[in-house]
Amino acid sequence: IEVLSVTSECAPLVKTGGLADVAGALPKALEARGVRTRTLLPGYPAVKAAIGKGRTVMKDDDLFGGSARVIAAKSAGLDLLVLDAPHLFDREGAPYLGPDGKDWPDNPERFAALSWIAASIAGGAVKGWNPDILHCHDWQAGFGPLYLRERQPGAKASTIITIHNVAFQGLAPARKLKTLRLPASGMQQDGFEYWGEISALKAALVTADKITTVSPTYAGELMTAEFGMGLDGVLRLRRDDLLGILNGVDTESWAPPYKSPAGKVRFKRKLRKTMGLGEAKGPLCVVVSRLTEQKGLDLLIDALPRLLDEGGQLALLGSGDRTLERAFEQAARKFPGVAVRIGYDETLARLLIEGGDAILVPSRFEPCGLTQLYGLRYGTIPVVAYTGGLADTVIPASPAGLRAGVATGIQFHPVTADAMSRALDRLCALYRQPDMWLTIQKNAMRHPVGWHHSAGEYAALYESLISSR
Ligand code: ADP
Ligand code: GLC
Repeated sequence: IEVLSVTSECAPLVKTGGLADVAGALPKALEARGVRTRTLLPGYPAVKAAIGKGRTVMKDDDLFGGSARVIAAKSAGLDLLVLDAPHLFDREGAPYLGPDGKDWPDNPERFAALSWIAASIAGGAVKGWNPDILHCHDWQAGFGPLYLRERQPGAKASTIITIHNVAFQGLAPARKLKTLRLPASGMQQDGFEYWGEISALKAALVTADKITTVSPTYAGELMTAEFGMGLDGVLRLRRDDLLGILNGVDTESWAPPYKSPAGKVRFKRKLRKTMGLGEAKGPLCVVVSRLTEQKGLDLLIDALPRLLDEGGQLALLGSGDRTLERAFEQAARKFPGVAVRIGYDETLARLLIEGGDAILVPSRFEPCGLTQLYGLRYGTIPVVAYTGGLADTVIPASPAGLRAGVATGIQFHPVTADAMSRALDRLCALYRQPDMWLTIQKNAMRHPVGWHHSAGEYAALYESLISSR
């Protein structure tokens, strides 16, 4: 099986969030199942620097305002196709944001270009390669299936869109219709029109052969008004083609440097030292997260006093919303048990997960979530909101869960500061019972979080599409 995976980020080359981890890990997991993936990725400066010279396998002299080529290269165990289009991607900094911290105004064109080239390649533009599947990730690849259908209705490739987060829909003003090379007929309710604008994600939802998302619970939630962000109706219409496949983690890249929970002690000491925290009798809680409305960390600001009263501590790494950043910085000044680093730091993120006792993920919605999975693997007990992939990956330390000896973490519901306070209370109570705590840690570390199972589901999906062709 030959797959063209299309993504705007891919670990370890370029990453802003979980999409990169998934795009980077899934191809390796699929290899063992006879699936060969080539990953199409924009040629940001960091990506071009990482791949070296490569080999030009395709050219396009008229790609949304400039000329472009596709470079084939191997890097980080991935088979890459890099879209070298300097007029679109030769910009320093984060992939989507300009120096002013705002989205680049030409983001619709930049990622339409990625999708355009995806459709070209899926239609056979790279000599000697005819993929069976065009697998698009999120809105940035959203026009891929549509371009393919419009330009080559008879192409052999089947198409899949994976929704990593329905909150990002890739909207563009209606006046860009022509610039984005879209058919006017799509500008309607059953097309890519979204409240008078053009939605790249919706374009995929109405065109792709199959739709997947990153956990079974989120697949169900997406079809409700509460979580569907206006696309629930479209998704309900396509319910027979919608499938939730849980994310895994790259267990090679994310391997704890200890075999049993006892090994954590050394890293906890190092973490406290790095963050400037003293000793404490309660659990050292960590957070590694984007600071946005989605992640619900404003609830933690309110629940924090309860944790500190019980002798707990907090070490947080994150960036995003300025108000939240300031609120956490202020908490760090006020409480000796709180340490905060604003920024993005891969090394510190790992130390937090290695050294923490518990990891907090109070998201209002969470398509899958990866940090709770890292937490499980490292015996860093997840305290999570009961939603999306968080509900699917943590076995709660309820009375029944504890009695059966299977609990791996704590879940709370509703997603309010009050419920979170109570969850932190329970966390501290469990932490005070060393035998119980050790059992939960061991369960967590034993919980399978790799790609094995889910890679099988993706492979089966690919196979079913090929055989129904
Ligand atoms: P999302 O994709 O919604 O941000 P996920 O939990 O799926 O959430 O993935 C987030 C990924 O980004 C994880 O690998 C996490 O470790 C990483 N991450 C988030 N914030 C930071 C940060 N400030 N520094 C380093 N890594 C971070
Ligand atoms: C999105 C979601 C997150 C998910 C990640 C990878 O960024 O917010 O829940 O884990 O994609 O699929």
